[in-house]
Amino acid sequence: MGRLRFLTAGESHGPALAATLEGVPAGLPLTAEQIALDLARRQRGYGRGARSTSIEQDRAEILGGVRHGVTIGSPILLLIRNRDWENWTRVMQVEPLTDEQAAELAGLVEAGDKRAAPITRLRAGHADLAGASKYGFDDVRNILERASARETAARVAAGAVARALLARLDIDVWSHTVEVGGVATDVARATRTREEAEASPLRCLDADAETRMVARIDEARDAGDTVGGVFEVVARGVPTGLGSHVHWDRRLDGALAGAVTSIPIVKGVEFGLGFAQTRLFGSAVQDVIQRRDAEGAWLRGTNNAGGLEGGISNGQPIVIRGAVKPISTLPRPLPSADLITGEPVAKAHYERSDISVVPATGVVAEAMVCLTLADFVLDKFGGDSLVELLDNATRYRARAAGRNLARPAAPSSGVRAGGSGSGAAPAESE
Ligand SMILES: Cc1cc2nc3c(=O)[nH]c(=O)nc-3n(C[C@H](O)[C@H](O)[C@H](O)COP(=O)(O)O)c2cc1C
Repeated sequence: MGRLRFLTAGESHGPALAATLEGVPAGLPLTAEQIALDLARRQRGYGRGARSTSIEQDRAEILGGVRHGVTIGSPILLLIRNRDWENWTRVMQVEPLTDEQAAELAGLVEAGDKRAAPITRLRAGHADLAGASKYGFDDVRNILERASARETAARVAAGAVARALLARLDIDVWSHTVEVGGVATDVARATRTREEAEASPLRCLDADAETRMVARIDEARDAGDTVGGVFEVVARGVPTGLGSHVHWDRRLDGALAGAVTSIPIVKGVEFGLGFAQTRLFGSAVQDVIQRRDAEGAWLRGTNNAGGLEGGISNGQPIVIRGAVKPISTLPRPLPSADLITGEPVAKAHYERSDISVVPATGVVAEAMVCLTLADFVLDKFGGDSLVELLDNATRYRARAAGRNLARPAAPSSGVRAGGSGSGAAPAESE
């Protein structure tokens, strides 16, 4: 990330999660209520466990970067307190343990309190083994507390700020569930409105498919198992010209793919037609450029490229799908091995878990897409204040609708910009 940077901190059962977001221009109206909307959306979805649906009701406090409801250009500090922390104060204590506190903890372990005991029965599909090996821990809790997807709540809070910025440029980002446990939406039947889908159990546009997806989740739950699926994020109103073909790390598609696959559980990403285009002829794949309309928009009959060509946004909606693997922690745990002894154990460690998180992962992906687009918007248009950013973006959009951007306008003095005349600049009216 360049112009807009963010970091998160905090453990799953620690006192709080935090996000610091740097680079947001001054003058953006921002309230905790706006952020709360996205945090609530991340917690919903059929198939989620008790923690997200009843224990935590996330709310971010804005502790820096905002004055009287408006950003002031300084880093924005967001804090989400973990309500479950009160049950973990000794186990997750930040300060060193006194002798009495250490004895209290040992007593809890002796009494069979699973929270207090070191975790050594490794869980496949988690960072447990690789993380404990890498950092040299003999208690996997030191790894799972941060590897837990609870961290994504902080990303969603930061993403809500980026969403507020994008909204000022009429850029809208939304996700929906397109597949769960092998049951896919049927495009012809995906007729729910966005509001209807948003209120549905899986945030799905196809009511019929959703019923079958819910049945698959129930089937998995009954079998002590879990299921994955696919979400789709669509970004509308993205201007042509974000990102660049000129260098690998300036490509918007690469940045978006990296951002979405950085979400724990996302195992693949595709744009537009994605992998399906590899099985078609080129003539069936390319989005034929038809013409430019009266408003200056370029028209095409299809959007198989998913709004990106050459690593640059092309003015079409950006469409990204993410593959969500089945949840790793199984209610009926798989056999595993012990970190300390190296010997097999009948059951891996179990910690309260979800059965399916496709809609929630879609919301996290929206946040990552918002943060990435906001970064590229700021890179393209600059501006320390919202007024400056909007001014730059409005002038760019007006020029983009009317003419070839690369050619400078003719100087008013009448002196030809091209010198000898071969590269004469176009007149304003061209
Ligand atoms: C919103 C969300 C909720 C998740 N909930 C769980 C969960 O309850 N149990 C679990 O085992 N994994 C859950 N995961 C996924 C794990 O965090 C992830 O699989 C694990 O950290 C390993 O990372 P990897 O899948 O990227 O290899 C969740 C992921 C997301 C995005």
